[in-house]
Amino acid sequence: MNGRDPEGRPSTPLHVPVLLETTLDLLAPALDREGPSTVVDATLGLGGHAEAVLRRFPRTTLIGVDRDPDALRRAGERLAPFGERFRPAHAVYDAIPEVLDREGVASVEGVLFDLGVSSMQLDQDDRGFSYSRDVPLDMRMDPGESRTAEAVVNEYPVKDLAQIFRVYGEEKLADRYARAVGTAREATPIRGSAELVGILERATPAALKSRGHVGKRVFQALRIEVNRELEVLERAVPAALDRTSTGGRVVVLSYHSLEDRIVKRALAARTVSTAPRGLPVETDETAPTFRMLTRGAPKAADGEVERNPRAASVRLRAAERIRGDPRTA
Ligand SMILES: C[S@@+](CC[C@H](N)C(=O)[O-])C[C@H]1O[C@@H](n2cnc3c(N)ncnc32)[C@H](O)[C@@H]1O
Repeated sequence: MNGRDPEGRPSTPLHVPVLLETTLDLLAPALDREGPSTVVDATLGLGGHAEAVLRRFPRTTLIGVDRDPDALRRAGERLAPFGERFRPAHAVYDAIPEVLDREGVASVEGVLFDLGVSSMQLDQDDRGFSYSRDVPLDMRMDPGESRTAEAVVNEYPVKDLAQIFRVYGEEKLADRYARAVGTAREATPIRGSAELVGILERATPAALKSRGHVGKRVFQALRIEVNRELEVLERAVPAALDRTSTGGRVVVLSYHSLEDRIVKRALAARTVSTAPRGLPVETDETAPTFRMLTRGAPKAADGEVERNPRAASVRLRAAERIRGDPRTA
């Protein structure tokens, strides 16, 4: 089966987990050891990373979290051969503490976040993520939730739409696009992605028509708003770090600068000393509890990007707990 990226280009081969070997190598020191260990895959998706973790680390149990019930069902079929070593959890990833409490797990040796939408979600027209095919404006990662992109586009005040396009889409034409949407919806509600793209196209000055697909940033913004992606991530990374045991590792793959900034800040809060400048001694309270495992935010190698276009925008960050094990807190 071939996949498509949001612009409709084939993304073959499908479902290749991004930075797979690097991710496994980063987790290895925490999982390649005597005795059982637990990993949370906070973004299970189709279970590509999860399957590789379960294969490579035979003493590891993996708790696979996803807010999309369809992803959980498909990943569940794929991971069935691992029996009790795979534990599915339908949840938004800021609920990792509740998921672990339910599983009776105090702390874990690894957490993986592979952020964003899956190729399966992009491929399914009825999920409404595509701006290159005419699909209903939905974009909910969990179809059980109530707010759709159609509701955002038709019901939000124009000034809120402008703010969303500007902040979540980093869209320079945010005000202009929001006004155009506001005018268009006065006649009839905007229902489909092609209609929205048409409105954006007509509102784009000729000189700016060549800067990539007109829907790219606006659709990203709508997706983030519909799923409250950034505020959930702000809570989720600290929650995951809190439940990571000493020697345990947290690996995050982000795909745009807004996500990466949140991850960078959350990791920095634990990896630098909080002692006032010039204080000669570090105390247990001020010493960093994690150390960074990555320098900057490494990207995928050219070869991987050729094989897997989704890897083109990835930024990797990872950290290891060095003190303050949650089990002794
Ligand atoms: C990029 S895919 C993960 C792909 C996976 N690593 C693989 O190898 O198959 C991201 C998945 O995370 C899920 N997801 C995104 N945000 C989430 C959140 N806040 N809570 C739970 N799941 C989320 C999406 O539904 C999607 O299935």
